[in-house]
Amino acid sequence: MRAQRSPSRLEDRLGAALRLATTTGDDAALRLLADADALDRRDGLAALAAIHDLSLAPVDRLGGTERWQHHPAVAELRLRLEADLVAHLDQLDAETDWDLPDPDDAVDSMRRLARLDAVPEVYRWLAEEATFDQLVEFLSLEGGPDGGFDDLVALCQVGLSGRAKLVLGRNYWDEMGRGDERCVHTVLHEQLARALRLQAVPRAEQPVEALERAVLGSFLVLSRAHQPEAVGALGMVELQAGPRCRWVLKALQRLDAPAGAVPFYAEHAEADPRHGKDWLDHAVTELAADPRWARGMVRGARWRALVSRRFFDAALLAVRGAAHDGTVAAAPARPAGSSSAVAASPRKAS
Ligand SMILES: [Fe+2]
Ligand SMILES: [Fe+2]
Repeated sequence: MRAQRSPSRLEDRLGAALRLATTTGDDAALRLLADADALDRRDGLAALAAIHDLSLAPVDRLGGTERWQHHPAVAELRLRLEADLVAHLDQLDAETDWDLPDPDDAVDSMRRLARLDAVPEVYRWLAEEATFDQLVEFLSLEGGPDGGFDDLVALCQVGLSGRAKLVLGRNYWDEMGRGDERCVHTVLHEQLARALRLQAVPRAEQPVEALERAVLGSFLVLSRAHQPEAVGALGMVELQAGPRCRWVLKALQRLDAPAGAVPFYAEHAEADPRHGKDWLDHAVTELAADPRWARGMVRGARWRALVSRRFFDAALLAVRGAAHDGTVAAAPARPAGSSSAVAASPRKAS
């Protein structure tokens, strides 16, 4: 039985206030949100994701609410929610016993971090044991190894120069299929989604760890104060994606998946080891000459490692325990018609 929708969820209040302001021009309800609190972590992350949508989601999906992107109350709320996120990540970070002999050596530290959990248990389980439905369930949640990466890398490179800018520019060009529309990663993901009939998972039905993983990316690239952390976190995506994609390919092969499911993961299995090496050898190496950048990049890499570990543990629990009716076991019951504007997957890019 589904829970009754609580009118006091911040995510719902924000959605309603944005729609009201858009249709009537009256921003009174929006202004009330400047000092409003989330009910819990899930609510805070969902509200923050909705605020980030105003800057990142395809504008045609926003129904005019993008007009309030820089409203003072939205900015105030966003600052507080992002401060909560950083405090949470720093706490997880402080509680983790990292094996980093020289934390100031950004290249060595990121290489070590990338080797930790290089292939989480869920990927081996997919390759060796999961049913076809469970594989589809997981890929719907995962959203590809680098969901939305084209826009993330585009925003991350703003203000960089030299080799770092070139590395991120080349990476973006690969996302764009090196100029061949059929090979654009978004297009390959759409092909994958069609072949496997992936269903978009509304935010309200995702494990909270999936929200956390997605919000980390949008937060970092939208926050100039955290640009070094963004370079570190996105570098980790590249460094870890290749081996994981190879295990997904094994799963697709074992389960005799349709041919259209293969190119997206084959492309990333081939390209991402190269992307990760370039990112580390050139972008990180160059930027690490500045200690502030070195510290920030390693901090961002640790944050990404933490949210990834939590996500994969939660996803394994959710999908291995998932019924074959498309429900996700770890997600809380929520009413239909959630206010989440954008689902996790299939996404517009990956
Ligand atoms: Fe990549
Ligand atoms: Fe990609």
